[in-house]
Amino acid sequence: MANPQHHPLELNPRTGEPFLRLKDHKDIIITPPRPDDVVLYPPIMNDPRIYEWLGPPFPYLTEHAEAWYAKVKASSDVVLAELEAARESPDLLLVGGCPVRTIRKVQESGEEVYLGDIGIFRCLDGKLMTPVGIPVDDEQVAEYVETNAALAPGNPQIIWTVGDYIVPSHHGQGIMTDALRTLLWDWAVPRMGVRHIISSTFEGNEGSVKVLQRNGFVRTRLIKNHVQTRGQWRNLNVMEWHRVTNER
Ligand SMILES: CC(C)(COP(=O)(O)OP(=O)(O)OC[C@H]1O[C@@H](n2cnc3c(N)ncnc32)[C@H](O)[C@@H]1OP(=O)(O)O)[C@@H](O)C(=O)NCCC(=O)NCCS
Repeated sequence: MANPQHHPLELNPRTGEPFLRLKDHKDIIITPPRPDDVVLYPPIMNDPRIYEWLGPPFPYLTEHAEAWYAKVKASSDVVLAELEAARESPDLLLVGGCPVRTIRKVQESGEEVYLGDIGIFRCLDGKLMTPVGIPVDDEQVAEYVETNAALAPGNPQIIWTVGDYIVPSHHGQGIMTDALRTLLWDWAVPRMGVRHIISSTFEGNEGSVKVLQRNGFVRTRLIKNHVQTRGQWRNLNVMEWHRVTNER
């Protein structure tokens, strides 16, 4: 029997998985990761239109794909277990994560095609959490991370971050704008209590900046030489979202 704690996730009768349907692209759903996805990750992550903006290991090998799958599957399973444990509770539980993240297009035949990934997780970068205008201090940075990691699920003080990609064949069709909006308003806000998100994108990633802006994020600063990818220093645009100043 369907678990009422999954609300507003729907239940896929074919796979038994919970899923979210995008608000505008009704043929696109967000599901838990699946073992069959693993072989799809390397060709996507070895495409410059993707790795240029994400900085994954390069070349991206099967072992990287397997490690990533193990990590995301475990995070999804933890949340599903929390929801299962609360099955009989009359109130909807606030949980520490989102059990769905894999974006798939449902073909007319019913076949589901892998399109990408969207994850929301606790911010673990103390530099991003350093308030604007305060100089970055290494000790303080470690403290921000520790404090943020220690907050209990549902605590409105938690600072979250979002990471995402869509396969290049489907860029520019409004899919990620819709996916982020759906994830935010159908799960993150009501079921995780998300109030504050700090996301970042490499300087020059206009598509990503637009997706965030279209969802109410505001660019708060540029951090120069934040990280190296394939030997090159990258600048970071920091984008913030606060629940209080945004309405659905
Ligand atoms: C960034 C990314 C997730 C955007 O997803 P998407 O589904 O293509 O985005 P959308 O179609 O919702 O586009 C939103 C806006 O950005 C624009 N846009 C999309 N890609 C763009 C690009 N490469 N350059 C400039 N603008 C772009 C769209 O035209 C749209 O603008 P509009 O609202 O004015 O029409 C996708 O391009 C991607 O996967 N890139 C590689 C990985 C990546 O950068 N991930 C994010 C890391 S922070």
